[in-house]
Amino acid sequence: MEQQTAKPTEREKGVEKKSTLQRTPLLAGNWKMYKTVSESEALAKELKQLVAGVSGREILICPPSINLTKVSEIIMGTNICLGAQNLHWANEGAFTGELSGPMIKAAGCKYVIIGHSERRQYFGETDKIVNDKMNAALKAGLFPIVCVGETLEEREANNHFKVVERQIRDGVSNLVKEDYLKLVIAYEPVWAIGTGKTASPAQAQEMHAFIRKILSQIYNEPLAQKTRILYGGSVKPDNIDSLMSQPDIDGGLVGGASLKAADFSRIVAYQAA
Ligand code: 13P
Repeated sequence: MEQQTAKPTEREKGVEKKSTLQRTPLLAGNWKMYKTVSESEALAKELKQLVAGVSGREILICPPSINLTKVSEIIMGTNICLGAQNLHWANEGAFTGELSGPMIKAAGCKYVIIGHSERRQYFGETDKIVNDKMNAALKAGLFPIVCVGETLEEREANNHFKVVERQIRDGVSNLVKEDYLKLVIAYEPVWAIGTGKTASPAQAQEMHAFIRKILSQIYNEPLAQKTRILYGGSVKPDNIDSLMSQPDIDGGLVGGASLKAADFSRIVAYQAA
């Protein structure tokens, strides 16, 4: 009897597309300035149990810096990795209150978030500072997650592509291939952060594809295809599946919902359509 070959479903096509491109999805929790050491410890322990069976995707948590070493002990040897939320651009020096790349690396971190919109907005971080910090992170052996994204005014004035293009060109140019391959981009529209207003999957996909196009112009197409671009801004258990179904969305950078183990573990266990 002749065997019928079933047509691949959209999901299979999507999975195949992302896996041939070798972009391992990355689900990252940015805890921001929440959780004391004992609260961080409790959250990490709860999460560790809830995501123990998950594979095929990278799970990252970024607690406040003062809690990194404690959380590092808790998640050591598990499928969760550790990241910091910021670093200084210098290796060491008289910079009261700051933390360097080597210190963050020694605390057990693999990743570091750079240029989050809250740092740009409240601490005056420019694209030049972002670029210096990215280089410092790479020098310390860390994987930088560089955040970009427009404000509401910029989107309403139809300047969002221009703004994000500038942030990418000024923030992440001039890397050698080996360093470029460690780079992760997070697109976080400022109007979607902490507001409950997520970019629609189509809006996010449109910007992610645009970012990949800029990366392919700065570097080249095969390299740009390897770069993970995360979406951030009101990611929740009920919208992660549709976001992750988009071809250029390779993960999420999650704020509020990463502070609850049940919500974040559901986000980690997303099912792309
Ligand atoms: P929310 O998920 O709380 O909107 O925060 C997003 C964010 O800023 C992650 O870095």
